[in-house]
Amino acid sequence: MTNQPIREFFTEDHRRLERIFEKSTQDLSNIDMKLYAEFRVGILTHIKMEEKIFFLAAQKSNQNTPLPLASQLRLEHGAITALLVPSPTKEIAIVLKELLEIHDEKEERTDGMYEASESLTQKETNEILAQLQSVTLVPVHTHNDAPIALEAAKRALIRAGYKFEELLMD
Ligand SMILES: [Fe+2]
Ligand SMILES: [Fe+2]
Repeated sequence: MTNQPIREFFTEDHRRLERIFEKSTQDLSNIDMKLYAEFRVGILTHIKMEEKIFFLAAQKSNQNTPLPLASQLRLEHGAITALLVPSPTKEIAIVLKELLEIHDEKEERTDGMYEASESLTQKETNEILAQLQSVTLVPVHTHNDAPIALEAAKRALIRAGYKFEELLMD
């Protein structure tokens, strides 16, 4: 991954967020809500950095045409975000972990979204890194535990091509 500092930046953030998530969900019947809150802010801020800064810059350098992977990743961001609305249950934590693995791989892999975006934005690497480093954290709302919130998350997953119950069993 030489000379791909933005890809490296985001990949390291994936590992950092995984560590926080793993710690918070070590005991699935007793999720550490303080750590989970840290994960939630971190992942929402990570998604903001991708959509509002990096992927957007790549799109601009691509004659304002979204990259091939962009729409699928956006749907997955929608599903991740929706899964963070209800309080985490054992099931939600399992599904989130599965979805993040699938999602992060699409971004990190060779020919994935990070590499494609990085090659389109080579002339602006330093500006983009500066913007990423000065991003403000996404404020999060309290969890919504009405059944409708989980239903909305399941529908967002379906829009992205996944089924909650299937990810649960993987
Ligand atoms: Fe992402
Ligand atoms: Fe990412």
